[in-house]
Amino acid sequence: MSDVIPLGEVPADLGRMPKKMLAWVIRPEREGDPEQSMKLEEVDVPEPGPNEALVLVMGAGVNFNGVWAARGKPVSVFKMHSEPMHIAGSDASGIVWKVGDQVKRWKAGDEVVIHCNQSCGQCPECNGLDPMACSEQKIWGYETSWGSFAQFTKVQAQQLLRKPKQLDWLRAASYGLTYFTAYRMLVHQAEVTAGDNVLVWGAAGGLGVFAVQICKMLGANPIAIVGGKDKVEMVKSLGASAWIDRNDYPDLMYKPPSASGRSPSAGPPPASTWSSTCATCGCGRSRSSARTSPTPTRPSAPTSSCTRGRSSRCSTRSSLSSRPPTRTR
Ligand SMILES: NC(=O)c1ccc[n+]([C@@H]2O[C@H](COP(=O)([O-])OP(=O)(O)OC[C@H]3O[C@@H](n4cnc5c(N)ncnc54)[C@H](OP(=O)(O)O)[C@@H]3O)[C@@H](O)[C@H]2O)c1
Ligand SMILES: [Zn+2]
Repeated sequence: MSDVIPLGEVPADLGRMPKKMLAWVIRPEREGDPEQSMKLEEVDVPEPGPNEALVLVMGAGVNFNGVWAARGKPVSVFKMHSEPMHIAGSDASGIVWKVGDQVKRWKAGDEVVIHCNQSCGQCPECNGLDPMACSEQKIWGYETSWGSFAQFTKVQAQQLLRKPKQLDWLRAASYGLTYFTAYRMLVHQAEVTAGDNVLVWGAAGGLGVFAVQICKMLGANPIAIVGGKDKVEMVKSLGASAWIDRNDYPDLMYKPPSASGRSPSAGPPPASTWSSTCATCGCGRSRSSARTSPTPTRPSAPTSSCTRGRSSRCSTRSSLSSRPPTRTR
C-alpha cells in the first residue's frame, strides 16, 4: 500500500519520510500544452544530499517558467538537466522536513520561503561576490528538477529563508522570484536612489508591482506604464507617482520583429534578431553569450542571462538609470 501523505495534510510525526509523494510531473514525451504535459504522478521522494534540504511544500508559486518547461519551448528542460522527469515550480513556502548531514543552520520543523538561485557554494562569486554569477548557477525548478509543484521539494540549504511570520503559506509562496528579480534590477544593477524618475513598463505585472513599491521605498518616482484603467487604479494604490495607460497610445507596445518575414510556426528567429537584453539582471549584455545556450548560435531560454552581466563586477547598467556605469562596493 502507498504511504503517500494525503494531500493537504501535515503529518504529526515531523520528519517521517514517506517513500512516495504526489507531484505534477513533466516527461519528455509529453511536452506541449501544460494541461496535458503536467500530470499528477506518484514518484519517489528524493533524498537530500549533504548540503541539501527536503521541504514539505505548503504553498507553491506559479511562474511563467513552468509554462516554458511544460511546452518544452523555447528550450526543453531536458537539455538543461539529466533527470528523466521534470517537476517545475521556482517559488515555495514550506516546512523543513529533513536536512543533509552538512547543514547546520536549519532543522526539521523550520518554516521557510525558498529562493530559486542554485549555485556551487564554493567559488569566489558564491562567497561574498554574486552567487548569480557563479558559473554553475541554475534556476531551481526550471534548469533543475525537484521544483515546488510536489508534496516535497529538494533544494540547496542556502536557498532557505525564514518565512515572514505575518504572511500565510500562500502569500509567502507568491513573491520570491518576482520580488527578488525586481530588487536586484533596481537596487543592485540600476542603483536607483531618492529622486530618480523610474519608468516601469508592465507596472501591473509580476515584476512591475514590486518595482513600483521598491522605487517608492527608495524615495524614487515610479512612473507606471499599464494597459487598462483598472490597472491604473492598482498602480496608484501601490504608490506610482505618475502613470500612462498604453491603451491611450495604440503604438505604445512591444511588437515582435517582423522584418525577417518568418511566420510564428517557423520557430525562433536567428539569434541576431533576439532582444539583446539579459532577462535576469537587465544589464543590456547580449544573451547570445548565455551560459546555457542549447547550441553555439542560439540564445537559451529567456530566463538565462549573460554570466558576466550578472556579476557584481558588471560594468553595464540597466537603462533605467542615467548615471554612469560604475559601481562601488
Ligand atoms: N517573473 C519572473 O520571475 C521574471 C524573472 C526574470 C525576468 N522576467 C522577465 O521580466 C518581464 C516581465 O515579467 P513578469 O513576470 O512581470 O510578466 P507579466 O506579469 O506578464 O507582466 C508583463 C506586463 O507587460 C505588459 N505587456 C504585455 N504585452 C505587452 C506588449 N506587447 N507591449 C507592452 N507591454 C506589454 C502587460 O501589462 P499591461 O497590459 O498592463 O501593459 C503585462 O502585465 C518578462 O520579460 C519576463 O520574461 C521575469
Ligand atoms: Zn559558485
